[in-house]
Formats: sequence, structure tokens, C-alpha cells
Amino acid sequence: MEKLKKCILEEGRALSETVLKVDSFLNHQVDPDLMYEMGTYFKKYFEKHGITKIFTIESSGIAPAVMTAMQMNLPMVTLKKQTSKILTGDVYQTTVHSFTKGSDYELTLSKKYITEEDNILVIDDFLANGEAALGAVRLVEGAGAKVAGIGIIIEKSFQPGRKMLDEKGYDVYSLARINKLGKDLIEFVK
Ligand code: G4P
Repeated sequence: MEKLKKCILEEGRALSETVLKVDSFLNHQVDPDLMYEMGTYFKKYFEKHGITKIFTIESSGIAPAVMTAMQMNLPMVTLKKQTSKILTGDVYQTTVHSFTKGSDYELTLSKKYITEEDNILVIDDFLANGEAALGAVRLVEGAGAKVAGIGIIIEKSFQPGRKMLDEKGYDVYSLARINKLGKDLIEFVK
């Protein structure tokens, strides 16, 4: 997506060889027009996949996911990050480890918002190690539903997530793919 790549080059900053800061349009301040356009791309790519619901992971996935859901006329569900297990039995939970943050959380979905007939599109802001996406996949498949695909805003292709999800057979579509980060360097996959 050319407009996204332009924003990344103009406003993004590589904090290290692994972390890209994009607070001005995605992670802190949000650019609604850009989010809407992301929705048009996800709709175009996934509209023939028979999707029934869009799932995202709180919090930065919510804006692009809701814009996509609006354009595809589908419900959107936010998977919550709880700090501890909920033992009431009315939720699905799975533990996700974040390598970037060095901590674990319980990704949580109410049983009310998924059925075995669902075919889910998972949307998230960053794909790094793929742990969050894989956690979402475990919740969906654990509920007996299907994963139709995974839509990512910014994929760091030099980290293991993309390859791992490809090898597991998931249909991953990323709007920007970064090949390399470094001091004054943001390089996209050609
Ligand atoms: P993974 O799911 O692919 O394994 O990634 P990881 O756990 O390592 O990422 C943890 C958090 O850090 C996620 O945000 C993810 O979006 C974010 N993240 C990973 N790499 C980058 C990066 O290069 N730049 C930025 N800005 N964020 C990155 P989160 O905890 O879910 O936060 P949020 O959605 O509430 O913003």
C-alpha cells in the first residue's frame, strides 16, 4: 500500500534494528483516512473468502479492524489482553508471550462472540514474532471455527512471524513489508 509506505518513510523512526516507531498515525495518534484506506485494501483482498467476523487484538489493531469491518459489513471483535486467567468458563483464553515486551498475557475471547460456523479474518498492527497472531488462531480454532486469513498493517519480514505463519498454511496479507531497519534506514521488501 503506497500511501502507508510513504507515511512510514516520512513519519516512522527506526528506534533500533528491530523496532519501528509509528506513533503519529498508528500506535498513539491515529490517522482515520489512512485507516479507512487500509480497510479498502483488506476488503479487496479478503472479500471472496466468505468471512463472517473480523477479530483484532487490543489496542492498536482496533482502528484498522473496525474500518475494515465497516466496509465489509461485518461485526468486529476485540480480543482482550488479561493479566490473569478467568475461571468462570464463559471465555476462551490462551497465554501469549511477547518477545518485544518480555511479558505474557492471557488473550481472551467471550464464548458469546464465536460459533463453529465462523470464518474469521484476524487483523493486527504489527507482525514480529507472530505470537499474538498465533494466539488469536489458537482461540479461533479452539472454538471450532476457521481462520480465513491474517491481515497485517506492518510486517517486519526479517523477524520469524511471517515465515512461521506461512509454514502453518495461513493466508497472510501485509500492507507494508519491512526488510531491514537501522539508523536512518527503513527498507521495504522489493
Ligand atoms: P508478535 O505478536 O508478532 O510476536 O509481536 P510481539 O509480541 O513481539 O509484539 C508485542 C507488541 O509490540 C505488540 O503491541 C506489537 O504490535 C508491538 N510491536 C512489535 N514490534 C513493533 C515495532 O517494531 N514497532 C511498534 N511500534 N510496535 C511493535 P501491543 O503490545 O499489542 O500494543 P498495542 O497494540 O496495544 O499498541
